[in-house]
Amino acid sequence: MASVATDITSKITLNDGVSMPLFGLGVWRATPGPGGQTEPAVEFALQKGYRMIDTAEMYENEADVGRELKKSGLKREDVFIVTKLSENGYDRCKTIFKESLEKLDVPCIDLYLVHSPKSGKIIETYKAMLELKEQGLIRSVGVSNFGILHLEGIKSHGLPVPSVNQIELHPWQQKPDIVKYCRENNIAVMGYAPLVKGQRFDDETLCEMAKRNNKSPAQILIRWSLQHGFITIPKSVHSARIEENMLVFDWSLNDEDMAILDNSPNKSCKPWNPCDVPWTG
Ligand SMILES: NC(=O)c1ccc[n+]([C@@H]2O[C@H](COP(=O)([O-])OP(=O)(O)OC[C@H]3O[C@@H](n4cnc5c(N)ncnc54)[C@H](OP(=O)(O)O)[C@@H]3O)[C@@H](O)[C@H]2O)c1
Repeated sequence: MASVATDITSKITLNDGVSMPLFGLGVWRATPGPGGQTEPAVEFALQKGYRMIDTAEMYENEADVGRELKKSGLKREDVFIVTKLSENGYDRCKTIFKESLEKLDVPCIDLYLVHSPKSGKIIETYKAMLELKEQGLIRSVGVSNFGILHLEGIKSHGLPVPSVNQIELHPWQQKPDIVKYCRENNIAVMGYAPLVKGQRFDDETLCEMAKRNNKSPAQILIRWSLQHGFITIPKSVHSARIEENMLVFDWSLNDEDMAILDNSPNKSCKPWNPCDVPWTG
C-alpha cells in the first residue's frame, strides 16, 4: 500500500524497516564548489524543513551536500541522504562508496542506489552494496532506472529485493508496469524528474489546472506525484522555487484533475529508457 505524504516530514517504512521521507530536494545539475549552486540550495532547503537530499557520484556535489549538512546543525539522523553509484562493478562500488562517504562526511549513507542497469555487472555491484549494509555503512540498498527484468534478475539470484527503485515519474512518464511490480514486491517507488525537468511548464492543460486550483504548474506536478504515493525529489537551486515546491501538503487535486493528468500522453524527458536495457547479470 502506498503512503501519501501529509507534511514535509511524512515518511514511508521501507522493506528493511528503515524510515524514509517521502519528499526531498534533488540536486542534479546544481553546480558544485565555492560559489556554486548546491550549497546555497541545500542550506535554504534544510532551513525550510526539507529532510532528504538526493545526490549522486555523477553529480559531483556530494561534498557540498556534506558541508551543508554539517553547517545546518541538524542531527545526522534527522536528514536522509541518498546517493548513487554511477558505473557498476564490485571493486568500483567499494572504492567509490568510500569516496562518497568521505565527501558527504557522514558515518553512513541512508540509501545507496545502483544508478542504472546500463553498465551491467548488476549482481556483483548489488552484492557489494549488501556487504556495505551488513557493515552498517549503508542503511538501505536500492536501485534506479531498473525495469522488471532487472528486478527479476536480482530475485533470480536469491538476493533480497531492493528497498527502493528510483525511476522517472511524472504525468507524461508513468511506467505503470514497473510501479505495479514494485508495489507487489514491497519495493518503494521513488520518482525522479517530477517537474519533467522544467520541460512542460507551458503545457496548456497543466497551466489551466494550475490557474483553476490557484497553484503553480510545479506544485500541481509535485502534488500528482505525492497523491500517487511516490517518494519525490523536485530540484531547484532558487530559494523562491524551493519554497514554492514544498507548499504542497495542505491541499489536494480532485479525482477529475488526477484523471486528466493520468491520461497525459506517454512522453519521456529524453529519448533514453534505461529501464529497458538488456539484462546482462
Ligand atoms: N536516478 C536518475 O537517473 C535521475 C535522473 C534525473 C534526476 N534524478 C534526481 O531527481 C531530481 C529531480 O529531477 P530533475 O532535476 O532532473 O528535474 P525536475 O525536478 O523535474 O525539474 C527541475 C527543473 O525544474 C526547474 N524548477 C524547479 N522548481 C520550479 C518551479 N517551482 N517553477 C519553475 N521551474 C522550476 C528547475 O530549475 P531551477 O533549478 O533553475 O529552479 C530545473 O530546471 C534530480 O535533481 C536528481 O536528484 C535522478
